[in-house]
Amino acid sequence: MTSDNQETSTTSNRVALVTGGTRGIGQEISKKLKKDGFFVIANYASNEQKALDFSNKTGIETIKWDVSNYEECLAQIQKIYDKHKTIDVLINNAGITKDAPLHKMSLEQWNKVIEVNLNSAFNVTSLVINKMRENTFGRIVHISSVNGQKGQFGQSNYAATKSALIGFSKSLALESASKNITSNVICPGYINTEMVAAIREDILKNIIDGIPAKRLGGSEEIAELVGYVVSDKASYINGATLSINGGLWMD
Ligand code: CAA
Repeated sequence: MTSDNQETSTTSNRVALVTGGTRGIGQEISKKLKKDGFFVIANYASNEQKALDFSNKTGIETIKWDVSNYEECLAQIQKIYDKHKTIDVLINNAGITKDAPLHKMSLEQWNKVIEVNLNSAFNVTSLVINKMRENTFGRIVHISSVNGQKGQFGQSNYAATKSALIGFSKSLALESASKNITSNVICPGYINTEMVAAIREDILKNIIDGIPAKRLGGSEEIAELVGYVVSDKASYINGATLSINGGLWMD
């Protein structure tokens, strides 16, 4: 699905790809980057109605594919290059939860979360990194989680992927810095999204009680930080892990 009423920015002409970019935190990131003058492409996996509403409302181009599937990434990213020539900014945001304590976790719950949250980062990043290297410019942001930093009851699969993104990003930063490409991680805390709203009410209340700020964060608060990290002003921020969690975890 595409939308033609999005002008390519005259200020930057840069193209940004946001995975999982039509819902939750990703939706706010897509909107913020568009506001900042990027031509934004928002990937989504399944919810067509939501993507259509989002595209109609924002004028942001949306493309459906499963980022955990390498062949689909290959085909769709090639199409983006054919049409837009470049991908300058990549936000690896797509992520899912399949929470259960390990003693109750199935192999399917483990594998699915690894595929969507972690393998997707390899799939998409490995398919855009060479062009960024040729262009000697790139901004890559991986959306991790406070639970990748501190662990969480019921999230050994999710936390494993979110920690792994940190090592992935730091290695990529080392490999790419000489080409003017930055790779950074943002670790949101509990943000007011459908994902968090799905937590059982009593458990969520306990979690919020434990947040020093005593509230959930807003997706737009994460998007603001992403906007800064991908800006020209942030060229010296590389390999960083930036927390934004209301004080829930400090390091
Ligand atoms: N620490 C220690 N023990 C805990 C615990 C905790 N945090 N939470 C639960 N337990 C204990 C319970 O007290 C209970 O003990 P008893 O059997 O002795 O009574 C036992 O573990 C079972 O607890 P549940 O009834 O909760 O177990 P369940 O199997 O029904 O549910 C669960 C498991 C689905 C993981 C549920 O605990 C849960 O939803 N936890 C929250 C997980 C979470 O924070 N997910 C975040 C999703 S949002 C997100 O991921 C975004 C992000 O990046 C932040």
